[in-house]
Amino acid sequence: MSHPIVFILIELLRRIGGVVRVPGLGVAVSDASVARAVLADEEHFSKTGPGSAGVFYDQVMGRRALLNMDGAEHLALRKRIGDLFTPSYLKVVAHEVLAPSLGDLERQLNAGETVDLVPFIHLLTGRMMCHELGFTPPAGREDRTYQELYDLGERLISSLKLTSRRLAPGEALRARQTFDELMGIARRSDSAENSMVARLRSAGLDANEVEAVLGSLFLVGTQSVSTALPRIVAVLLDTHQMRRLRAEPQLMQQAIDEALRLIVPSPLTLRRVSKSVVIDGHRFREGERAIVLMYNAAKDRRVFPAPLLFDIERRHPAAGRHLWFGVGKRRPECAASRIPQPSGAPEDRVIRC
Ligand code: HEM
Repeated sequence: MSHPIVFILIELLRRIGGVVRVPGLGVAVSDASVARAVLADEEHFSKTGPGSAGVFYDQVMGRRALLNMDGAEHLALRKRIGDLFTPSYLKVVAHEVLAPSLGDLERQLNAGETVDLVPFIHLLTGRMMCHELGFTPPAGREDRTYQELYDLGERLISSLKLTSRRLAPGEALRARQTFDELMGIARRSDSAENSMVARLRSAGLDANEVEAVLGSLFLVGTQSVSTALPRIVAVLLDTHQMRRLRAEPQLMQQAIDEALRLIVPSPLTLRRVSKSVVIDGHRFREGERAIVLMYNAAKDRRVFPAPLLFDIERRHPAAGRHLWFGVGKRRPECAASRIPQPSGAPEDRVIRC
């Protein structure tokens, strides 16, 4: 989805209008209020069936991946999983995953070295994936293992296609093989008790559910963070607001929210129109596909005036708040959207250097 052509198309659609019917693709929604209404409306829009994002997850990761579930079934699985990111789990992550890498980064930056954050975050992402999978990399091959895991995650994401409603059998097979390679690691997991695999198992999920949920965590989670972090730092530096943030660290959460509004690491999601409906005068017909462009909704000028301006002091009105995390029944859909910011989160430590 991060292909430049996709971004040109998204930008074009934003300029054309809030809701645009694109022959062969579906109804593209850039208007913030319509986007919110579509994402919140499970009666008329579904995450399952042809055209929805759920088809990909069905074909590759199995039926119970959260991202391909609706209604009561979805709610029940979310309840069983509970809160994945408790403060005590975040402490473990900060200590076991982030601290060693960030320590090195801090030393390099303090010594005045130039660091390329992109390869750094790829390795950190691989390290996080290892931790979630409960896998200890062989001694001496740590960085190589992290890079391999990161590459597998990237390969899985690149099988997601906007242009097709279902993966062709050959594409589905290749994506499943990649997914299987990743899950092979989870199956061999040494079950470190703090791993995500162990946490999901102890929540009572069966083996298929554990693997499907892990797949979702990797697809929309770990990889989104890895896309976001270097861009957050880049936009702060490019707009000279890093200095301001260093002087006023209490603006950190606002700065992250504003950067995510601009970047939108998960730029779109797909829904199948399961029952015809009209929203704000726009008709969605049964069987069509709704392409919800969170990237554009976060630039809706009626909600965010001068939307392309990055301003860490911008106040986000309720109508646009956290749209980039999706929309659930009472709060954002993303399972990680309410993660408290522990001191020591990567962006925090990088920015302090
Ligand atoms: C800046 C980072 C992130 C962004 C922008 C983001 C965005 C999103 C979005 C837009 C959705 C909803 C997709 C849809 O409705 O089709 C979602 C769902 C989800 N996200 Fe995130 N996410 C981020 C970080 C994470 C992290 C770090 C994790 C966990 C490791 C995570 C786990 C999930 C899960 C499990 C779901 C599915 C929830 C469900 O359907 O019940 N996300 N995310």
